[in-house]
Parts: sequence; C-alpha cells; structure tokens
Amino acid sequence: MIKVITDGVGPFGIEPDMKKAKAALASLKDGSCKGNDFLGWLKLPEYIGSEEYARVKACGKKIYDNADALVVIGIGGSYLGARAALEFICSQRFNETGRKGPKVYFLGNGINAADTLQVLELVKGKSLYVNVISKSGTTLEPAVSFRIFKKYLEDTYGKEEASKRIVATTDARKGALKGLADAEGYECFVVPDNVGGRYSVLTAVGLLPLAAAGIDTDAILKGAKEAEKYCLAEREDNPALLYAAYRQAVYENGKKVEVLSVPSESVRFFAEWWKQLYGESDGKDGKGIFPASCVYTADLHSMGQYIQEGERILFETGLSFENISSKLVVPTSEDNADGLNYLAGKDFSEIYNAARDGVKKAHIDGGVPCLEIRAEKQDEVSLGELIFFFETACGISAIMSGVNPFNQPGVEAYKSNMFALLGRK
Ligand code: PA5
Repeated sequence: MIKVITDGVGPFGIEPDMKKAKAALASLKDGSCKGNDFLGWLKLPEYIGSEEYARVKACGKKIYDNADALVVIGIGGSYLGARAALEFICSQRFNETGRKGPKVYFLGNGINAADTLQVLELVKGKSLYVNVISKSGTTLEPAVSFRIFKKYLEDTYGKEEASKRIVATTDARKGALKGLADAEGYECFVVPDNVGGRYSVLTAVGLLPLAAAGIDTDAILKGAKEAEKYCLAEREDNPALLYAAYRQAVYENGKKVEVLSVPSESVRFFAEWWKQLYGESDGKDGKGIFPASCVYTADLHSMGQYIQEGERILFETGLSFENISSKLVVPTSEDNADGLNYLAGKDFSEIYNAARDGVKKAHIDGGVPCLEIRAEKQDEVSLGELIFFFETACGISAIMSGVNPFNQPGVEAYKSNMFALLGRK
C-alpha cells in the first residue's frame, strides 16, 4: 500500500481539512463533482478484463515479436504516461539495457527537425512499426510527425504493408486520425470519451506501447486494482485522501509551489507525467499549486539552494521506495585518499536514505513543509498503484479547491494564435 507521511507538515501548525477531503472523494465516487463526464478513469483498473485490452495485448505481442523499432507518436497526455512507465520500469536507458523487443522512440512531442531526422536515421533498415496516438486526431505536433513516418513507411514497404505497420490510438468515432485510419485500414484502439488525456495511461494510450516493449501490463493493472481498494475507501489511512488534504492545507497557508522530489533519473519522467496531471487539473480560475520536480540527489546541487533559502512559497513531496532491489556496496580503499572509508560496506540505498532524511530535516528547518510518499518497490505493481493513487488524489485535491479537475480550457489559447500565424484558413 502507498504510504503518505505527514510529520514534516506538523511543525508548521497546518491542519488538513479531512472532512472536506472526504466530501470531495464522495462526490468523485457518486459522480456529482464538476467534470463528471470525465470519470471513466475510475473504472480503468477493470480494463484488464475488457475485449479492448485483449486486443492491446495481441497487437503489443505482434509488434514485440516483429519489430526492431517502434516509433510512438503523441504529445501531452498521449505521450507522457507511456514514457514515464517505460523509464520507471526499465530506466532512462530503456533502449540500451539489452531489454528484448523493439527499440522505442518517442516523437511528435514537439516540433524539432533534428530529433525527427535522428530517429529516421536510427530506424533505417530496421523492421519498423508506428503507433500514432491522438485523442482529438487534430493535434499539430503528432500530426506533422506522423506525416513524416507514414511517408517513410509507405516509401519503404509500399502502401499495403505500411498500413499493417501503423496502429492508431484515437477517438472511437470522430477526428481526422480516425477518418484516415479507417480509410487506410490501420488497426485502431480507442481513447474512451470519458477519459481525459492526462488520465489515459491505463488505456491503450499507455498500455499498447508498453506491451509492445515487453512490459508486464497485467502487473501494472493489478497494482491499479490494489490501489483502487484503499484510495476510494473512506478510511483514515487512505493515502489519496491524506495527500490531497495536506497539499490543499499547505496551499491555503501560502505555499503555492509543490516540488515533487524523486530518487533517480529513472523516475524523472514519472514526475513529468505527475506535473501534467496536477498542473492541468489544478491550474485554472486563477488558482492552483504550481507543480515542479527535482531528481535527488542530483538537483540538490543545482536547485537545493533555492529550496533551502529562496522565497518561502514552496512545499515538498518526496517520493521514495521502501525496498531497493539493486544492491551496490561502497568498496574499501587502501589509501582512503577521498576519506570515505567510513562508508565502506554501506549499500548505496542506505546512503540515499540518509541523504533523503537529512534533506527533509534541513528543508523543514528552512521553512519548507515536507510530505513523503512511499511505494513498496520500483516495479510494475507499484507503478500501477502510484498511477491510480496520484490520479485519485488529484481529483480530490482539485475538487477541494473548487475547480473542474478534468477540463483544460487554457490549453487552446496558444493553438489559435499559432494556427493564425501559420495561415490556417
Ligand atoms: O491532457 C490533454 O488533454 C492534453 O495534454 C492532450 O493530451 C494533448 O494535447 C494531446 O492531445 P491529443 O491526444 O488530442 O492529440
């Protein structure tokens, strides 16, 4: 079970409003909250038994067995979850570790010629599949990227074979991508109408690229199912209730920025996923906690100064794992030139935990309220638990602050300016 440790908030005399948090959870569960047409994610732990999931696994296996390379094209909620999960399970070096299955390249998450050309070069001569993911089917960045790869596949394999190597994840009925996919005969997967982009990682959006990469997606859904039991329950130790109530309490006490600190590079993208989830859900109507993130201990050497002594607008949420499976012990050095023999025989995780606890104490002393989130291990089951936990807490938290957690009206503003500048009729 995910644990939330709140002793780092107590010294600030801040009390959470648990009654309000429980009312927010109840409104999520009975569907009376704002944005209640987007509550499909609450049922996604059940996706494991669906016909669509059986197709996701079959298609994932086909790609796993036949592809040397998979290009996954998407942006925002149609990108971050799959990448976060892949790095969480396989590390940021997911293409270099000897993992079986295709190399995975993420594109369409920006407009960058050099990046796109580099991937085209990397996949040349390889058996290539493409999974294009866009709920609306009209997002410019993935659509432009897809044009390039569609052409590459058609030039390389011919139109008929190319259409067997392209898989589209999109709306069930409407949108430009759905129309194109039907016309060209691509295999299609659905982004459900009642699941927003940032809540979609446990649908084909996240699970298909993961299955194709050889990740145990059943275990991820099993973890989500486990979290469903305690995150939707009205019990005192419900971590989603605690996290939501405490973050709202510190926000109301003037802490406007939340720094999610994560314990390694492999969790960096999980923090990126978390930032979208919380930023797009909370940040509207002139309200909301700004979500930021740090990788420890690396960022203590760059951002540590600000967190310790900068403007007192921050609170911190530290994510860590109870059991670290990789063991690495500091060796003894005969000359002890670096003076570190006092660490000889200690495991890296013991040193990290000392850094984590030392940092927490220093930050509390420096005026930064600290929450901690502990998951059991950095594995598929814990990942599923963390996903469902953070999604539920996010819904509760945004409802507590009075906004609609599931819309993102502000995302459209830049698009209309950009389209006008590009001359769209
Ligand atoms: O959360 C959101 O709605 C956005 O981040 C979208 O996921 C992102 O813009 C991609 O949209 P689409 O899947 O329609 O291409």
